[in-house]
Amino acid sequence: MDKRQDVVSSAQPQGGDDPLVEVIVLVQELDPIERDILVKAAILAPSMHNTQPWKFHFRHRTVEVYCDPTRALGAEDPEGRMTVIGVGAAVFNLRVAAACLGHSASVVPLPDTHRPTLVAEVIVGSQPVDVSGPAALYPYLAHRRTNRHPFADRALPTEVRDQLAQAAHEEGAMLEWIDQPDRVRWLLELATEAAIAEADDPRRLVERQRWVGGERTRDGVPSSAFGPRSYEPSGPVRDLAIDPADRLRSPGRFEPRPNLAVLWTVSDQPRDWLAAGQALERVLLVATTQGVAASLLNQPLEHTDLRWLVRDPRAGWSMAQAVLRFGYGPEVLPTPRRPAEEFVLADDDALPAEGR
Ligand SMILES: Cc1cc2nc3c(=O)[nH]c(=O)nc-3n(C[C@H](O)[C@H](O)[C@H](O)COP(=O)(O)O)c2cc1C
Repeated sequence: MDKRQDVVSSAQPQGGDDPLVEVIVLVQELDPIERDILVKAAILAPSMHNTQPWKFHFRHRTVEVYCDPTRALGAEDPEGRMTVIGVGAAVFNLRVAAACLGHSASVVPLPDTHRPTLVAEVIVGSQPVDVSGPAALYPYLAHRRTNRHPFADRALPTEVRDQLAQAAHEEGAMLEWIDQPDRVRWLLELATEAAIAEADDPRRLVERQRWVGGERTRDGVPSSAFGPRSYEPSGPVRDLAIDPADRLRSPGRFEPRPNLAVLWTVSDQPRDWLAAGQALERVLLVATTQGVAASLLNQPLEHTDLRWLVRDPRAGWSMAQAVLRFGYGPEVLPTPRRPAEEFVLADDDALPAEGR
């Protein structure tokens, strides 16, 4: 028998009452190269402040995806919603890499109530599948970036907007384009209000100092990723700068008519956040295939009262999970990632699952 094969289920009596008929299911384990490809793809996902809040544990052909509580943002993300969205984005990348390897991948959200940090299991199929679809996104994983620079004052073609909305739809979320100038203005005002509310919050400032600014080689957002500050008080990017030197960096003129969109889910439970994260990453990767840059303008969503105001009162009861800005901008540098091996849990470090 191939050493990489493992018996995961055996001796199931089959065929009615005949105890002699047994089924042995042989499943070929993921080999180390496949595991490495999966993890290296997953960790390229976006995460709030680039905390990289995920951990992976391999069990046969299942990748258990945990959130890493040591990377939680207690002040800016007390519910852990942004963390789970980031983990969802990593799950989407795992699916893309699995497809590229010729495997199907099915996601089981929150599979174990006894292990709340276990956000999802990704079960990687052992049979070859049609690799079209998500596999086509694989070459773009390393090129997707958050771009906080000014974009050209140019609308996105309708086909591209439809493609991005379809990408969200395929993951069970909705991407709504914000076209009315008064709603664009409203969103920018909410973002400014959030920035004002944050400016005096010492817990947020301390937390942000841990993750944002300066030179960074492992995690966090380096100053070089801030882009210019906006001339306008209500610019369409989030100014993450804390350090006085960063705050006084050169200003730039941002596009007067930003292409904004809101990503919605129908409810607001952790499984919706997981879906939103997968939708977010799918949308961002499809944008990358089209040469479209993106940044997030999420700060109103981090304040319960302002998040509520992002809703169009005429729309249903959907919950906003991300505010996105799209456009055509300059190339930007990648942000750092920790080495892939730091994200892989040994068997002893993953919490035991019943019946494993
Ligand atoms: C849930 C979530 C929320 C985010 N919120 C913001 C935001 O409000 N403003 C911003 O500029 N970037 C935001 N980002 C982008 C991250 O800062 C970015 O993904 C991270 O620094 C890694 O850089 P990269 O996207 O270029 O790989 C967010 C990302 C995620 C996943």
